[in-house]
Amino acid sequence: MAYLFCAPCGNALFPFVLVFLFLISTPSMVAIAGNLYQDVDVTWGDGRGKILSNGQLLTLSLDSASGSGFQSKNQYLYGKIDMQIKLVPGNSAGTVTAYYLRSEGSSWDEIDFEFLGNLSGDPYIVHTNVYTQGKGDREQQFYLWFDPTAHFHTYSFLWNPAHVVFYVDGRPIREYRNLESFGIPYPKNQPMRLYSSLWNADDWATRGGAVKTDWSQAPFTASFQNFRANGCVWSNGVSSCKSNSTSHNAWLSQQLDSHNQKRLKWVQMNYMIYNYCTDVKRFPQGFPMECTVRTKS
Ligand SMILES: *[C@@H]1O[C@H](CO)[C@@H](O)[C@H](O)[C@H]1NC(C)=O
Repeated sequence: MAYLFCAPCGNALFPFVLVFLFLISTPSMVAIAGNLYQDVDVTWGDGRGKILSNGQLLTLSLDSASGSGFQSKNQYLYGKIDMQIKLVPGNSAGTVTAYYLRSEGSSWDEIDFEFLGNLSGDPYIVHTNVYTQGKGDREQQFYLWFDPTAHFHTYSFLWNPAHVVFYVDGRPIREYRNLESFGIPYPKNQPMRLYSSLWNADDWATRGGAVKTDWSQAPFTASFQNFRANGCVWSNGVSSCKSNSTSHNAWLSQQLDSHNQKRLKWVQMNYMIYNYCTDVKRFPQGFPMECTVRTKS
């Protein structure tokens, strides 16, 4: 936060801004700002995942020996989850930064963002998927309209009873609707945790595996900040949302209004590079049902 405050004010004021922030900060303000020490655990990578800047920044790194990862302390059953991510800069070919929600067990639900690295100057791919009861195969891929390695950008999941929406900087890029009334499974019974990891996937990630990871560029590092979970926290079989008044949880009933449907179409027209729902070769016998259901909206 201090950096944001100071961006317009020049280096000379920087120490004063820090002192000021220190003086006005109280425990409740710290909670509002979010603190990665409180929200997540670095779970693997033997020191390659680090929480820095008093809990305001997290970095994951990857070298030829290992990647690294973290997970949220809480599990959620529905939520609006935001994280700002700055992806691996330079030659990131072969690396994958994954950021996803996932439940436990063999019949799990999962909602995925995976960022597939590339050679310097070549575009990242944003790979998305939705699993229900252990079955995925619902890939959609996109390019971005900016360089995701130059700055932090916000990547979000909205997961409520009506739909799952993937957002980039507040712009919807994909919607998976609840079409249970048509017999299509929807994630709604299994609480999910947020996970993120940086790992080597040079057998498939970049140009289908043709471009390998250049280990002379290691360590590769992705950065994370401003984790925000507006979720129904699930603990011992009880949802925190039941006891809250719904006015705090507008996201729980949030739909895509016509403005946001237009924004979604813009991304899909201009930046979508793969959609399982139009892959005739893969589904010669007909597309999965969720691809063909029409509902009035
Ligand atoms: C990498 O760049 C190439 C060339 O522009 C492109 O075809 C590919 O989709 C890009 N992304 C990945 C992850 O392969």
